[in-house]
Amino acid sequence: MTSLTLGIETSCDDTGVALLKSESRGDAWESESRGDALGKRTILCELLSSQIKDHARFGGVVPEFAARKHLENLLPLVDAALREGGVKGRDLDLIAVTCGPGLMGSLIVGVMAARALAQAWGVPLIGVNHLEGHLFAPLVDAEDLEPPFLSLIVSGGHTEIVRVDALGKYRLLGQTRDDAAGEAYDKAARVLGLPYPGGPEIDRLAKDGDPHAFDFPIPLKNTKEVEFSFSGLKTALLWQVRKMEEEGKPLPLNDLCASFQRAVTEALVAKVALAVRLTGIRRVAASGGVAANSALRAALTESREARHWKAWLPRPGRCTDNAVMIAMAGRCAWERGVRSPADLSPDPSLEIA
Ligand SMILES: Nc1ncnc2c1ncn2[C@@H]1O[C@H](COP(=O)(O)OP(=O)(O)OP(=O)(O)O)[C@@H](O)[C@H]1O
Ligand SMILES: [Mg+2]
Repeated sequence: MTSLTLGIETSCDDTGVALLKSESRGDAWESESRGDALGKRTILCELLSSQIKDHARFGGVVPEFAARKHLENLLPLVDAALREGGVKGRDLDLIAVTCGPGLMGSLIVGVMAARALAQAWGVPLIGVNHLEGHLFAPLVDAEDLEPPFLSLIVSGGHTEIVRVDALGKYRLLGQTRDDAAGEAYDKAARVLGLPYPGGPEIDRLAKDGDPHAFDFPIPLKNTKEVEFSFSGLKTALLWQVRKMEEEGKPLPLNDLCASFQRAVTEALVAKVALAVRLTGIRRVAASGGVAANSALRAALTESREARHWKAWLPRPGRCTDNAVMIAMAGRCAWERGVRSPADLSPDPSLEIA
């Protein structure tokens, strides 16, 4: 049976809307351990309205401003998606909306709009955990990624490794003790006088730098726990920059970016390697904005450690927030029998497991 799902994502500063057409697979849906339970799917439309330019002048996301922008952008995007997909609201079989974690004001706009549309069109509604959404991003295009696998979620607000025993059955193996990897990139960029968001900028400048020019610490590299920490690394960069400024030296931006990026990448890959060793699971999927980073992508697929696993990475544009991953996660949860109340409310600190 063919189903149409409208995905809505407004957890932070990107307004995303997507239209997903999928084939139900009957029995296969019930076998939740099967990756192919997702069935054949077509993305009819995928729209994103980024607020990066609006927030860049403040050096980061301003929550109230983000919520107001979602309010302006969301309904026109839904209209455009339906037009592009050639469908009417009443033709939909499901509306999947991010209900947390994220910024409260931003989440409220998405959830309330989804509730109103669901009621007006007589369509069921499902709330999706944003992190489960990120976890689904590598599954969008991959036909051969099946549980059990390990999911490295590296975003602006989260850095964690989740064990996926089945779709919907998740165990948190470990997470960051302080800053998320994306947050570390953004803070490092500020130290270096680079614009927000810092990750793409550092990635670009690092391409012409020497990753071994500065010997930054690799946080928690040799501990026996799946855990991360990036605040010390950011401080090490800050001290290095201050020292060079006091000495009146020009900042070797490319080398600083490449060395910082190497430290973050080595810290992440060391814990992926540990999680693979501890669990014996040799399938690794990565997602979240930092999964777009070229050094991390190379390390997860081509490094010496990577010989111990096979890696799945979403295309770079689907690493950051988008509504395709929300539509996919929502559709899959619905088929597994998950239901949300009609008065679904957002939870800014929702956890994945
Ligand atoms: N090429 C890149 N290299 C490193 N970091 C990157 C790259 N591209 C994006 N990022 C980082 O990814 C983060 C944004 O990712 P994402 O949209 O997944 O996070 P978020 O949705 O804000 O956080 P969360 O999903 O935890 O709520 C930013 O911190 C940004 O700097
Ligand atoms: Mg996100």
